Amino acid sequence: MIEIKRVSADCVYEIRKKILRPNAESLNAVHFDGDFAEGTCHFCAYIDGNVASCVSVMPVKNDGSKAFQMRGLATYPEYRKQGLAKALVKAAEYYSFYECGCDLLWLNARVDVSEFYVRLGYTACGEPFMIPDVCMHIKMCKDKPEYEKERRCCCDNANG
Ligand SMILES: CC(C)(COP(=O)(O)OP(=O)(O)OC[C@H]1O[C@@H](n2cnc3c(N)ncnc32)[C@H](O)[C@@H]1OP(=O)(O)O)[C@@H](O)C(=O)NCCC(=O)NCCS
Repeated sequence: MIEIKRVSADCVYEIRKKILRPNAESLNAVHFDGDFAEGTCHFCAYIDGNVASCVSVMPVKNDGSKAFQMRGLATYPEYRKQGLAKALVKAAEYYSFYECGCDLLWLNARVDVSEFYVRLGYTACGEPFMIPDVCMHIKMCKDKPEYEKERRCCCDNANG
């Protein structure tokens, strides 16, 4: 059984470390600024009760707009290609745009994963840059009009 749940920060640290920072010495390396900020929300996908995938969104200042940053998206290898990360991104978008009324959702994508986000409607907005000890990243964004357009398309398709 697959379940998507909102969880506390401590539920995402183990999978964050194993997948995103496997060489880090301790869980502290995967504690992000903002993990406990007001408005931050963490999500996990569970398969048969086991954590399979996670993501977090947190409010971040961004050129005056009400922006949220998506961070720490990860799926354990044995659970990949089942739509879990996509489902978590959708849950994070609903929370950020619809429940919190943000104008912009952005993230720093690993360059080799940027196509995943392009398929989900994100646009690169900047030049690639290196996060030391990790890999090349690129900032990617989705704004509220794009999110609303997708939701309208979704509703239209559902209504035939
Ligand atoms: C990237 C990652 C989170 C994807 O997780 P996942 O649960 O397998 O993703 P999904 O099954 O939801 O994939 C949704 C779609 O994206 C595609 N996709 C998955 N990973 C992709 C990638 N690296 N590049 C391009 N497309 C990708 C899938 O094929 C699927 O396509 P479909 O809808 O046509 O079937 C996972 O591979 C991972 O944890 N990687 C290591 C950590 C990482 O790079 N995190 C992202 C940091 S920015």
